[in-house]
Amino acid sequence: MPLLRFRYMAHAKSGSDRMEKIVSLCKRRGFIFQSSEIYGGLNGCWDYGPLGTELKRNLKDFWWRRMVRERDDVVGMDGSILMNRQVWIASGHENTFTDPMVDCRNCKSRLRADQLPEKNGRKQCPVCGSFELTEPRAFNLMFKTYVGATEDESAVTYLRPETAQAIFVQFRNILEVSRKKLPFGIAQIGKAFRNEINPRNFTFRSREFEQMELEYFCRPENGLELLEYWLQERLRFYRDIGLPSESLHVHKIPPEECAHYSKGTYDIEFGFPFGIQELEGVAYRTDYDLTQHQQASGKPLDYFDEESKQHFIPHVVEPSAGVDRTTLALISAGYDEEVVTDENGKSETRTVLRFHPRMAPIKCGVFPLLKNNESLVKQAREIVDQLRGEMMVFYDETGAIGRRYRRQDEAGTPFGVTVDFDTIGENGPALRDTVTVRHRDSMEQERIAIRELPTFLSERIR
Ligand code: GAP
Repeated sequence: MPLLRFRYMAHAKSGSDRMEKIVSLCKRRGFIFQSSEIYGGLNGCWDYGPLGTELKRNLKDFWWRRMVRERDDVVGMDGSILMNRQVWIASGHENTFTDPMVDCRNCKSRLRADQLPEKNGRKQCPVCGSFELTEPRAFNLMFKTYVGATEDESAVTYLRPETAQAIFVQFRNILEVSRKKLPFGIAQIGKAFRNEINPRNFTFRSREFEQMELEYFCRPENGLELLEYWLQERLRFYRDIGLPSESLHVHKIPPEECAHYSKGTYDIEFGFPFGIQELEGVAYRTDYDLTQHQQASGKPLDYFDEESKQHFIPHVVEPSAGVDRTTLALISAGYDEEVVTDENGKSETRTVLRFHPRMAPIKCGVFPLLKNNESLVKQAREIVDQLRGEMMVFYDETGAIGRRYRRQDEAGTPFGVTVDFDTIGENGPALRDTVTVRHRDSMEQERIAIRELPTFLSERIR
């Protein structure tokens, strides 16, 4: 049992050191890899490994549970990534979904004009330091593609740059089949694509990413109040997945910086090692999108209010979150190093991912004390079988038990179950059919009856 522990790292080192350690852990333990790595990668694209996939899945499942299953007023949908080009013309994306871009005349880098460092009041190339930059021009972020065998203008469409538009164009169908009354929402999780000029900060700004979006339709008079409601709901969500309150920030976008159709937007931000950056936008988009699509398609997208017998276009409040950014926030918030000293005075650094148990990729490690003892192994395997229908468990029989704990600490596994000689009754009947449960964060251990394990763990990971 360790006698002494102290944390030396969490905030002591610079953000870039911390970020380097996080990126390295993500690769070493199989959270996130560079896409197409063996061919030199593809900038702005990432693959999630076994642990990252579980983490992301837990995040999406919890979002779906909170936003859809636990509510009467929200239903789900799953739209296609490719849509009719007219959608992107009507929504304004084809003409205005742009970032200002400049070229460096010296090193030929392409740069986002609004993210350039300045020296003595002059914009500078961050790559070579030159001031020789072209005038900014609009660069459309949508990936263009062709549908079918002919590559001409009539076949053009785009990979969707947000999931929201599928919700707007299916509004009428979903209203009819769900028989919902205002206010009600439609939720969706899915991939989105943006040809970012400068993908950066690991997965934070990617070219392919996932969004979790809710379009919450309401009467015009309730829009502003619902904007505040959804801001609070979303902050509660982030706290409930284990992001510390003090790492969350709310930035109210000044009216002159909001999109012309927005009557109010908040950014929910998180303190990443590389700075405070946006996790989610909560925007009151008025009736802009439905009106645009009604006008462009000629199909009615209004709502009939049975009480007032009036037709009107609903307004919408949109909490729009990024799966990849939130996954990175979970890893950043959870990453910790501490020095532990055992009773013999030997110190070592343990790396821990302190995920909230409901987010942790693996919920429980199961370890027979010795791998060459048939009874221990059999009992441990039985426990794995008993738990795996309910949660992600990991069986490990190799190496000293302390090493096995450390490996799970690094993966963020909140509980470790050890089957020892007491479990199999070799030291008498008193502790027979009990196991040691070790807690990742405190490293404390307690004895639990095997039959109580499923409930003990389920209550803590929900
Ligand atoms: N439908 C509204 C919308 O798409 P947004 O602020 O452009 O709004 C919403 O995007 C969220 O999607 C962001 O808060 C962020 O979490 C995520 N996101 C946007 N662009 C991203 C990118 N290039 N890489 C990773 N996540 C991104």
